[in-house]
Amino acid sequence: MSRTILVFFGPPGSGKGTQSDMLSEALGFPVISTGELLRREQKTGSVLGKQAKRIMGQGKLVSETLIDHVLWARLAKGDARNGFMLDGYPRNEQQFKHLLRLLHGDDRLYFIEIEVSDKEVLRRLSGRRVCDCGASYHTYYHPPKKAGRCDLCGSAIHRRADDEPTVIKRRLADYHAWVRPLLEKASGRGSLIYIDGEQSIKSIQAQLRSKLKTYGVGKAVKKKSTKKK
Ligand code: AP5
Repeated sequence: MSRTILVFFGPPGSGKGTQSDMLSEALGFPVISTGELLRREQKTGSVLGKQAKRIMGQGKLVSETLIDHVLWARLAKGDARNGFMLDGYPRNEQQFKHLLRLLHGDDRLYFIEIEVSDKEVLRRLSGRRVCDCGASYHTYYHPPKKAGRCDLCGSAIHRRADDEPTVIKRRLADYHAWVRPLLEKASGRGSLIYIDGEQSIKSIQAQLRSKLKTYGVGKAVKKKSTKKK
């Protein structure tokens, strides 16, 4: 069966998680976020989870072994049968090659780049607050209904360890050096969709859906929900 695969590119804080989660509800495809899978692994207290915590806290890429472990286990779940979205993968040439090997001949592949300046990234990530349940907020752009508390589960929300300014700068530098150049390799492998990420969350989502519709993706649009990442 032909699958629809959407691959999100964009610097840290560009809104990949926010937009893919909103789109997931509309399209009925799961979001597979390697960052989120790694954060879940951390919570299990496993050796791999401890490794992930140390490396992610420094803003560096985790090992391929670790990524393979979380990603392939996730893909094996039945919900990605008709399609899925990738947030945070691929992040280097090796992962890009793995992605291509994963494809079936009739899969429909879309690479979506959300463009945001480094200045805006710093603004967004310094205001991001997350909950252990996976929900994500922003103190100004997307505040929870009750200050400091998650809308979904009521727990206290906090800053991500890798959202410290020095770590953000390292993640940004790595994005420009290693991840964005992959988009050049992507052309010819699928359709490229560019989105100006410096608009409101709602406008970006509307533009994204409208661009996808021109490719026949997501004709039946449902209601959006609170972001859960
Ligand atoms: P990961 O979790 O993937 O982090 P990232 O790519 O740096 O992206 P972010 O989650 O920080 O940002 P986002 O683009 O999803 O933005 P968001 O929607 O949250 O990876 C974390 C770490 O895991 C990596 O550094 C690495 O160590 C490891 N890792 C992950 N994948 C790996 C891989 N494949 N290989 C090796 N290691 C890997 O939005 C950010 C904030 O802005 C939020 O507060 C949001 O509310 C707000 N916001 C969003 N859109 C808007 C808007 N339009 N206007 C205003 N505010 C907005």
